[in-house]
Amino acid sequence: MQTKIVQIHSLDSPCAQNAIKDAAEVIRRGGLVVFPTETVYGLGGDATNPLAASRIYAAKGRPSDNPLIIHVADPADTCRYAVTCPLYDRLASELMPGPLTVVLPVLPIIPSEVTASLPTVAVRCPENPIARALIREAGVPIAAPSANLSGSPSPTSGAHVIKDMDGRVDYIIDGGASDIGLESTIVKIEDDGTLLLLRPGGITVEMLTSLGCTVKIADAVTAGLKDGETVLSPGMKYKHYAPKASLILLDGDRIKRFDFLKKHMEVMKQAGKKCALLAYSEECAELSAAFADVQIFDFGSQENEEEQARLLFARLRETDAFDLDEIYAPLPGLKGMGLALYNRMIRAAAHRILHL
Ligand code: TXA
Ligand code: MG
Repeated sequence: MQTKIVQIHSLDSPCAQNAIKDAAEVIRRGGLVVFPTETVYGLGGDATNPLAASRIYAAKGRPSDNPLIIHVADPADTCRYAVTCPLYDRLASELMPGPLTVVLPVLPIIPSEVTASLPTVAVRCPENPIARALIREAGVPIAAPSANLSGSPSPTSGAHVIKDMDGRVDYIIDGGASDIGLESTIVKIEDDGTLLLLRPGGITVEMLTSLGCTVKIADAVTAGLKDGETVLSPGMKYKHYAPKASLILLDGDRIKRFDFLKKHMEVMKQAGKKCALLAYSEECAELSAAFADVQIFDFGSQENEEEQARLLFARLRETDAFDLDEIYAPLPGLKGMGLALYNRMIRAAAHRILHL
């Protein structure tokens, strides 16, 4: 398949307006368009067209039992596709458009191919102006998973989507680097009016509770964090967002992590293994001095979890260019954006955590 690739820097230019029109036409015809959102890039198709949904699964190489998020141009449009409620309206008025996906009872207009036959549908209104212009112009909701090949880290730049999706979709809109860098927060509105957090993201638990919401965190969000466990089982079926090399997370303060690395890097060197470190900016200089022959990837300031979120997937992809055996990274905390980083990193690491 020939993929048309267009860069959009600003929606104001006539070129950008034409690109949005062309891409919207592709969506209406049942084709696939990769588009930027503030979280990660999406691989979009008409959410009311079962054939488009099947094409999305095929392009991603994703099993069709994993449902898709539908994207709307305006939070008020959700009631056309799902049964909304006062709590939805509240979340919509406070936090949308933005990195929040809400799971609601589905209406029949959305085909079972999109929901994987669940009685619910996940709905999100992205904040990115290109995404909203595209959905509005298409005139239909856009079903879109992250635009990576199944198993790879989600794409956060035009280069990532071109690498994964060139030749597999009709159209790619390159809108530059993603602002947030991790996928949206997903909450399900329960019958008792509480929120079940299914996936943490840019809208944090703290933000939801500060609105007066009661939030229960689904076990799967932090699964693998058991008292007293040292190394947790790899469990391939939980492996997502994975780099080619084995990622291992180090749970301990700076001194403990340095002590461990000093001993372990020597052992790995003797064994002829190639290692790399994903390191906080503040620690890069010290680590480079201590481990001259170990590749070091800066993934942002320890104080700035938003920066780490923005860089994580790009850094994981960069490591694939080197023939590495193991990558070590610090284990994030569980507060604020830390919970989303933790959730993605334990999956990328297939739950390999060393408690130091
Ligand atoms: O930020 C995002 O959410 C990005 C951008 C493109 O919007 N999309 C995204 O989609 O991350 P995807 O398909 O990679 O992840 C969607 C997640 C999946 O884990 C899926 O199982 C879950 O949402 N999901 C979809 N519909 C659901 C439903 N009805 N109930 C529970 N989970 C659902
Ligand atoms: Mg995904």
